[in-house]
Amino acid sequence: MSLALRGIGELLTNDPAWGDGPVGRRRRAALVVDEGLVAWVGDDADCPAADESVDVAGAAVVPGFVDSHTHLVFAGERSDEFEARLAGERYDGGGIMRTVRATRSATSSDLRRDAHRRRAAMRANGTTTVEAKSGYALDLVGEIRLCEISAEVADAATFLGAHVVPAEFAADRAAYVDLVRGPMLAACAPHVQWADVFCDRGAFDADEARVILLAARAAGLGLRLHGNQIAPGPGVRLAVELGAQSVDHCTHLDDEDVAALAGSSTVATLVPGAEFSTRSAYAPARRLLDAGATIALATDCNPGTSYVTSMPFVIALAVREMGLSVDEAVLAATLGGARALARRDVGHLAPGARADLSVLDAPRVAHLAYRPGEALVARSLRGGVAADGAAAARTVPL
Ligand code: NIG
Ligand code: FE
Repeated sequence: MSLALRGIGELLTNDPAWGDGPVGRRRRAALVVDEGLVAWVGDDADCPAADESVDVAGAAVVPGFVDSHTHLVFAGERSDEFEARLAGERYDGGGIMRTVRATRSATSSDLRRDAHRRRAAMRANGTTTVEAKSGYALDLVGEIRLCEISAEVADAATFLGAHVVPAEFAADRAAYVDLVRGPMLAACAPHVQWADVFCDRGAFDADEARVILLAARAAGLGLRLHGNQIAPGPGVRLAVELGAQSVDHCTHLDDEDVAALAGSSTVATLVPGAEFSTRSAYAPARRLLDAGATIALATDCNPGTSYVTSMPFVIALAVREMGLSVDEAVLAATLGGARALARRDVGHLAPGARADLSVLDAPRVAHLAYRPGEALVARSLRGGVAADGAAAARTVPL
């Protein structure tokens, strides 16, 4: 059954072939959804007949957000650390073991329920594709469990056994690296598409990260990296050297890092929610874009550095704090995220794309940054279907 969305005030297709500029902007537009895909995009006046037609009365429509970096599956919370940072303490990754202890002792049904709740909150804010990683068990059986739940709850799952060296291996780091790249990876790989390593001060060094990521590649996984979050270091250059799909955080970059990213196909995934919550400087988004790097924006949803589920909040931070235009930020939160996950079917609204979109309770996309904190996503469709599973036509707002 086809559905025409008529009377769209501003539509971002993210495809220059279907509208103006890099975001493929159209005004007074219409879009037809059929069989879960975008079937037609054009001027409202030219809209073809469809089984059902809905007038969105001048609302703006954007592609569904692609949140390419989350730690969706965890137990407990660490608001006391957030408060301590407000009082001047620095984030050094030291709290990760607290979440590991809480997660190890949580039941699977509690982990699942909480992850689904976070995912529902994301969806309510317009996120239609989500990545999730393990990394809060750091033992073989627990990491398998987190990979399984991540794969269930999210659209893409990542093995992050190399988040930090757990306390019980503190005296023998090499043994933990061997566990991660050996039996843990072998047991987790069937459940995930990606592997990630936290390569930073207080986590894993470049040599440790390299051997783990090479083993992951040999196991058939795509590569991602947490790098240059806490301090300048080798993470970004290692990601580029290995041809990783994405290197995430990129807070502390020197000119060589920026040039390496600009000359590569590795996406720089920026997570300003983490910088907000840790009171860090923001990543040099403007420098990266001006140099020609591809960037993505993501929430990094986790209890330590970014207990954030809202991509509109991330967009608002990127615009206000990182010097991006609204168009650049929305592009990074949609097409950029899709690139970071190597997905071609999402992140844009050209004909043939999956019908993942949000109708905003606003006439212009700029309201996402202009009215931070407002619930501006009136309805979102994923594969043409609304969040509650109802048919699209009945659930698009009027
Ligand atoms: O992406 N940097 C490493 N991992 C998470 C934070 C983990 C935590 O503090 O619980 C991040 O910021
Ligand atoms: Fe992270």
